[in-house]
Amino acid sequence: MKPRDRLRIAMQKSGRLTEPALDLLKRCGLTFRQSRDKLFCFGEGEPVDLLLVRDDDIPGLIAQGVCDLGIVGRNVLDEFRLAAGREAEPLTELRPLGFGRCRLSIAVPQESDYREPRQLAGLRIATSYPGLLGEWLRTQGVDAGVVTLAGSVEIAPRLGTADAICDLVQSGGTLVANQLREADVLLESEAVLAGPQALPADERGDMLELLLKRLDGVIQVRESRLLLLQASRGALDAITRLLPGGPQPTLLPVAGQPDQLMLQALCAGEVSWRQLEEIKRAGAREMFVLPVEKMLA
Ligand code: PRP
Ligand code: ZN
Repeated sequence: MKPRDRLRIAMQKSGRLTEPALDLLKRCGLTFRQSRDKLFCFGEGEPVDLLLVRDDDIPGLIAQGVCDLGIVGRNVLDEFRLAAGREAEPLTELRPLGFGRCRLSIAVPQESDYREPRQLAGLRIATSYPGLLGEWLRTQGVDAGVVTLAGSVEIAPRLGTADAICDLVQSGGTLVANQLREADVLLESEAVLAGPQALPADERGDMLELLLKRLDGVIQVRESRLLLLQASRGALDAITRLLPGGPQPTLLPVAGQPDQLMLQALCAGEVSWRQLEEIKRAGAREMFVLPVEKMLA
């Protein structure tokens, strides 16, 4: 097989991670030609292509060298590492991506008196994550039966094939609909960039390094807002104390008004209406909150 000179990223073909993952790549300057119902998308500007697959297949594709990177839930990556053992060794979590947040949790029937893990001893727990569940049970010192199911785990207790489940919880809607309640959290998950421990020593490695830098810039500013406002010198201290996080603000003179200044501050998160109103009460005028698109430190 001829070594590839283009970087290849595997991601979920259709599901909760698909849209935010594509959006993130777009913000990193990557655009793709192929329509999305195809498996393969050719990268237009940069030598980076996409492979659209089932999320559970992503870690294996990276471990086999079919893809260089993957955007996948931490739950899928960690489960693969536990199941694949040595084969998964070169695989690592390069970056948490901040979307697709969910929990891998134990859930029990609503009427259960569950308070602590040892009450699971001797019970049957249905899951699609036997590796992660098995490891958690071992660390808790609990001996329970693990029933591995590929999907529809939440109906197992009603069908009588399990006493509890271990599944992903995001909004909690699935649990409520199945008269279950979340009892214990095994893993806090989110989408991550998975890839090799060491960069390939060729053009792909260079491209990967560039991509990581862009990603860091995008992730860092994604929640950031640029706040602009005018105020008199006397009000500056009070206003500065109210600014939500971020580095020192920049002060600029206002033409023809020696007592007035324009303040510019990068805020670490959203700036809410309440915060704006408070800053205004401290003496600010002409306030603008702008999203930040790119940053290169
Ligand atoms: C996951 C999980 C639950 C549901 C939880 O399934 O298996 O069924 O999401 O989400 P909620 O707390 O917001 O209801 P998903 O929709 O990803 O499909 P899958 O199980 O077929 O992968
Ligand atoms: Zn899935």
